[in-house]
Amino acid sequence: MNAEAAASMAIELGGDTAVFDVTDSVAFDTEVDKAVERHGRLDIVINNAGIAPPPDSSRVEQMMLNQMARMEDRIDDLVPPDSTVDLSDADWDRMIRVHLHGTFYGTRAALRHMTPARSGAVVNVSSVLGLRPMSGAAHYAAAKAGIIAFTKSVGQEVAPFGVRVNAVCPGWIDTPLLAPMDPIMIAGIKMSIPRGRLGRAEELAELVRFLAGPESSYCNGDIFAASGGFA
Ligand SMILES: NC(=O)c1ccc[n+]([C@@H]2O[C@H](COP(=O)([O-])OP(=O)(O)OC[C@H]3O[C@@H](n4cnc5c(N)ncnc54)[C@H](O)[C@@H]3O)[C@@H](O)[C@H]2O)c1
Repeated sequence: MNAEAAASMAIELGGDTAVFDVTDSVAFDTEVDKAVERHGRLDIVINNAGIAPPPDSSRVEQMMLNQMARMEDRIDDLVPPDSTVDLSDADWDRMIRVHLHGTFYGTRAALRHMTPARSGAVVNVSSVLGLRPMSGAAHYAAAKAGIIAFTKSVGQEVAPFGVRVNAVCPGWIDTPLLAPMDPIMIAGIKMSIPRGRLGRAEELAELVRFLAGPESSYCNGDIFAASGGFA
């Protein structure tokens, strides 16, 4: 969706850009078809687009107070965070649409070319929160867990036809997605990561590259975490 960032990446890699919203299935089909027309084939699709729930500082404060109450064994003092009660229809829909619909549209558009060609790799980007959900972002966890089930099902469907569909589950990675998060939240998250730090985008990219390439020839509908031990 970020035309400027896409353009600079295309220059760096010597590629083309297509700017569209992954929740638009017609646009997704059109752009994939155009890429195949231009290059004659389709080898790799990575369904990576994603969004995070916006941070809410009042909730962080309440979470800290609740943590103190827990540590002091004052369970009756806990205040319900109501993250799910306060979740709007629009926020739920957008989260599911970007992650789950987007991954479906991208995979379907890819398979229309890959299955007849008996070759290709799709890599879906899920999350550790799809494997190990935490309270506070049920819509994100549900969308990412959905991507895992989707990947396993489709991966099995196309496995005998030379097409590989797999998923990665990143842990907490230092990208613009985390930038709006409260520093106290980030500090708490770091404490729960056995490796002791956030991951780097490059550390995830290596795993995605492996799944996109021939080295992962026996990976079909398989799910891989890179989480510093968090998963
Ligand atoms: N950063 C993390 O800690 C983390 C952890 C687990 C999973 N992930 C997942 O990794 C993926 C990449 O996230 P990131 O951390 O690099 O964040 P990011 O914000 O740097 O990148 C997300 C990208 O998705 C694009 N995007 C968002 N909505 C879109 C839409 N509707 N249509 C097209 N493009 C859209 C944005 O323009 C952006 O380029 C996401 O699926 C995210 O959920 C990230």
